[in-house]
Amino acid sequence: VRPPIDGSVTLVTGASSGIGEALARALAPRVGTLVLVARRAERLERLAAELADGGGKPRVAVAACDLGDRRATDDMLSRVRSEHGAVDVLVNNAGFGDFGCFDHSDWDKVARMIELNVVAVTHLTHRVAPAMVAKGRGGILMISSGFGLTVLPGFAAYAATKHFVSGLSEALRMELAPAGVVVTQVCPGPVATEFEQHVGNFTGRRPQRIVEISAERCARAALAAFERGRALVVPGTAMKLLMLLAALSPRGVMRVACGPAASWLRREQERARAALREPAG
Ligand SMILES: NC(=O)c1ccc[n+]([C@@H]2O[C@H](COP(=O)([O-])OP(=O)(O)OC[C@H]3O[C@@H](n4cnc5c(N)ncnc54)[C@H](OP(=O)(O)O)[C@@H]3O)[C@@H](O)[C@H]2O)c1
Repeated sequence: VRPPIDGSVTLVTGASSGIGEALARALAPRVGTLVLVARRAERLERLAAELADGGGKPRVAVAACDLGDRRATDDMLSRVRSEHGAVDVLVNNAGFGDFGCFDHSDWDKVARMIELNVVAVTHLTHRVAPAMVAKGRGGILMISSGFGLTVLPGFAAYAATKHFVSGLSEALRMELAPAGVVVTQVCPGPVATEFEQHVGNFTGRRPQRIVEISAERCARAALAAFERGRALVVPGTAMKLLMLLAALSPRGVMRVACGPAASWLRREQERARAALREPAG
């Protein structure tokens, strides 16, 4: 089964930056109507104007929406359906992360993350899947994460949201394949986007730069796998190898191997908190 990309109504969430923007740019020349979703309307308008001027002349629609708001999402989907028809391809990409010891985390941020990464993804999929099944064709591209397949200290709640996305993707793929709908999950490692600005790295270290790839490379790998109807893709060679190593390592070994990182993280977190408490100067 292949996703019906050419001439389709394709909706991309989180199209205002990073991987979503790169996916929108790569999809634009192929699709019939491209619907760009995120909160920052002016960014989407700018991208829409640029894409409409490019080759292929797709119809590009801006649907600014806070996906953390169920009612706003329902209204947005109803508008898209009445103006452009049923969504043939859904790219569930919008999401953000949180870093640090879970006991130090900000509950409001964790709750917003679960709302976007878990509830919004499930809600959108639940709203568009029935029309795809009725037509006997469709595609759902899920941007999960390497954290959908493994865990590291410092990313407990984020990894849990991505485990949800990976579990949902894998099971939906089985359910929807007989109805002609492709579900592909993408499990990237570090990608150079605005993700890092939101994740809250207080350590001043960026070990991830060794395996980091560009948003464009991530999008290319994601779409190549989606087009082939693949179940899962890990973009980037180094990340593929790391994920293979993690998959082959028994959980007990991973727990022991991650012990020093967890202790280091807690020390860094306490240091960052102490620095915040100290009076300036
Ligand atoms: N970058 C990485 O290292 C990495 C690695 C693995 C997986 N991922 C996953 O890749 C996906 C895309 O992230 P990215 O790296 O491209 O980060 P990004 O540059 O920060 O993009 C996130 C996108 O999500 C949108 N978004 C955030 N909150 C939203 C809300 N409430 N409603 C609607 N849209 C919202 C943002 O747009 P607005 O702010 O305009 O709403 C933005 O377009 C995420 O699911 C992330 O978990 C990223």
